[in-house]
Order: sequence, then structure tokens, then C-alpha cells
Amino acid sequence: SAHQWQAPGPNDSRGPCPGLNTLANHGFLPRSGTNITVQMILDAIDEGYNVQPITILRAAAKLALLTTDNIDNFDLQDLALHGTIEHDTSLSRNDFALGDNIHFNETVFTTLNNSNPGVDYYNTTSAGQVLVQRLEEDKIANPNLINTAKEFFVRVGESALYLSVMGNVTTGVAPKQFVQIFFREERMPLEEGWKRSDVPIDDDTLGFVFDGINNATTWEPSGAVVCPWIRVQ
Ligand code: HEM
Ligand code: MG
Repeated sequence: SAHQWQAPGPNDSRGPCPGLNTLANHGFLPRSGTNITVQMILDAIDEGYNVQPITILRAAAKLALLTTDNIDNFDLQDLALHGTIEHDTSLSRNDFALGDNIHFNETVFTTLNNSNPGVDYYNTTSAGQVLVQRLEEDKIANPNLINTAKEFFVRVGESALYLSVMGNVTTGVAPKQFVQIFFREERMPLEEGWKRSDVPIDDDTLGFVFDGINNATTWEPSGAVVCPWIRVQ
């Protein structure tokens, strides 16, 4: 059918965002991953995940235009431009300075994969612990990492997104199996029992999950001293 999962071909553009790559792999975005507009993003996140045009994603979709010279569209790979949205200390990709900041990396993903031992779900507490642990690992791997308030805010937001989209929108509890398939295969785990949330993911629900994650972290800036050019509040 139109929204069946299909692996990208060699000429299809994919980038550092598992959420958008998955939408392209299911045909909610062009499978080519190219010439994507802000409106196409907002339609696709709604159709694919029941994500409403929440503030952080409207902003991300507009920032995406700054990663290319195109006037009103971008390719998924453009999103890898380091420092616009793409940042160090990702959950499933390496730092730009360490090599490949675009493709899924099983070694980097180990921290999230192995979190919340003994149960079959991730939650806001485990997601917060993973953010802290990734930072400790990355301080060793990349002493020049960039870790300002901007990067931290974006990282908490991305974690709120994987919990919300793959799990329960109101509790932020997500089955490990769904999250792992989402990252590893960039696939909606439909055969495994996942379905698009009935409850719209909006600023309120994402904010609640965001706060839960944030409350499970301690964080301080570190690494290279740079001025974050996006004001986050
Ligand atoms: C990263 C999910 C929408 C651009 C991420 C990550 C997740 C995620 C979980 C973290 C990956 C990691 O740390 O390894 C989602 C979901 C979305 C969504 C579920 C939709 C509902 C968007 C939009 C944009 C975007 C609209 C911009 C057009 C990015 C970029 C990264 C990223 C550039 C790389 C950041 C990094 O890890 O360095 N996304 N995202 N995402 N996302 Fe999205
Ligand atoms: Mg990154």
C-alpha cells in the first residue's frame, strides 16, 4: 500500500533524524527524501504520528531551511549541517567531529538500548538517565563537544518525541521493542502491534513528557565555549 515500509534506495536522501527518515520510508514524506517543504513536514508528522504542529517542530521545520541554499525546501541529508539543528551527543549517531553524524550507529545506541534494565519499556526517568550517561561518555570521546543550553533543550525534546511517538502520549512510557525498531530500522513497528496514537501529540502532552525527562536529569554546560544563537525561551 501507499504507506508500506520500504528501505531507501541508493539515491534517496536520508538524514540524522529517525523520525523524518521513518516518515519517508513509509511514504508520508517523499521516499526520495528531497525537496521537502515546511508544510509537507507538518502534514506528514500529523498523518504518520498524530503529532500536531507543536512549537518546537514548527521551529525545527523552519530551521531546516537554513541548512540549504534552496529557498523553501530541503533534503533530509541537509539536516546534518552541524550546529543548525544537528548537535553532538546524539542517542544513535556519532558526533560530527568523530566521523559520521548521519547514519544510525549501533555502538552509540547501546546506552539507550540497554537502559531501564529488567523491564520491557523506557520512560521519562530512563530517558533522562540516558541523556546524562551519553554526555558523560561523550565528554571522554570528544573533549571539544558542544553542550550549551540549546543542545540540551533539543536533546530533551528529541527524547520526549521518541517516547511520545512510540509510546503512551500521556505517560511517556514506550515499549523497548518499538523504540528499538524505530531507531534501528526507521520503521513503524506496525506488525509488532504499534499504532499511531489516538491522542494528538500537542504542546501540552509533549511538554509534560519533556518536563518528566528534564526532572530526571542534572545538567551543566561543558565542552567548547560557544554562544547559542537560538534563544530557547
Ligand atoms: C534528531 C525524532 C521531527 C530534525 C531526532 C532524534 C529523534 C527525533 C528521536 C534524536 C536522534 C538521536 O539522538 O540519535 C523526531 C520525531 C519527529 C521529528 C519523532 C516528528 C514527529 C523533526 C523535524 C525536524 C527534525 C520536523 C526538522 C525538519 C532533526 C535533526 C536531528 C533530529 C536535524 C538530528 C539531531 C542530532 O541528534 O544531532 N529526531 N524528529 N526532526 N531531528 Fe527529529
Ligand atoms: Mg548529532
